[in-house]
Amino acid sequence: MSVLDPLETLYDPVHGIELPLPPELTDLYGHLMFNPQPGRPYIISNFVTTLDGVVTLGDPGHAGAGDISGFNPHDRMVMGLLRAIADVVIIGEGGLRTEPDHLWTAPHIFPALTDAYRKLRDNLGKTEQPLTVVVTACGGINTGARIFRSGEVPVLVATTAEGCQQLRGRELPPSVPVMVMKERGLLSAEEIIEAACRARGCETVLVEGGPHLVSSFFAGKRLDELFLTLAPQIAGRDGSAERLGLIAGMTFAPANPLWGRLVSVKRGGSHLFLRYAFASDIDWKR
Ligand SMILES: NC(=O)c1ccc[n+]([C@@H]2O[C@H](COP(=O)([O-])OP(=O)(O)OC[C@H]3O[C@@H](n4cnc5c(N)ncnc54)[C@H](OP(=O)(O)O)[C@@H]3O)[C@@H](O)[C@H]2O)c1
Repeated sequence: MSVLDPLETLYDPVHGIELPLPPELTDLYGHLMFNPQPGRPYIISNFVTTLDGVVTLGDPGHAGAGDISGFNPHDRMVMGLLRAIADVVIIGEGGLRTEPDHLWTAPHIFPALTDAYRKLRDNLGKTEQPLTVVVTACGGINTGARIFRSGEVPVLVATTAEGCQQLRGRELPPSVPVMVMKERGLLSAEEIIEAACRARGCETVLVEGGPHLVSSFFAGKRLDELFLTLAPQIAGRDGSAERLGLIAGMTFAPANPLWGRLVSVKRGGSHLFLRYAFASDIDWKR
């Protein structure tokens, strides 16, 4: 018996290279095609948002994505699917702050499909867990977080010289490399990708950072696709706590609007699972 009802595909005209999902995952998700481009990694991100555009409630104990999706199992299944495909998962300091015990692996987010995710990684020839890249400009990360302490997953910190200085004496285990990409300030998407790809061959990069981090990828036009779950919840805002939307720290419209192209719509109950393409060098009509 399946662990979940299958997602219902409403629109999915994507052509490209079909990923070798095992039958358990094809039954739940359907076929999954990507459009990788030669000579560069394929970069995707995954978010869940409420109907009123909130991606984090910002309340202590309720700041995580689970409170946005309602801990929705289909959302978790899709998160696991994307992690199972990824060579690298990129996160920011904000994710570590909110979920210090989290592991950015497929089995961690949806344990019931551990075997199916492992088969998918085997089919892709990926033997190790994805490399978790933690991005910090200031170096003020929680070095006591599980990913640093437990040795369960490979981890890299991408930072600045200033951040590296800050990290000295913060007892980061010696097994965790720190890569300095510039003197100070925010790293560009390009610099983050370079750090990741120096450490690990990367065909597929998954950005699971929060609104500040993903903004750098939109700004650098380095995001090929956004997987966006629309949760049927109205969260509201009253100004007492910051309730971020998908983008934080920069603006695009009206001067430089970023328009996506809808490439897939699936439904699980009242949740919608959307895919938007943003890369300009991909022909989605092939
Ligand atoms: N709904 C969803 O799908 C979803 C997804 C992800 C996260 N979230 C939620 O979003 C919240 C966190 O939001 P956030 O925007 O603060 O998270 P974030 O972007 O992951 O983390 C922000 C921190 O990461 C570092 N950072 C980000 N971009 C950087 C860059 N370009 N260069 C260098 N360092 C960079 C900075 O750390 P330093 O200050 O150390 O320099 C920055 O303060 C959490 O509550 C989380 O649960 C929700």
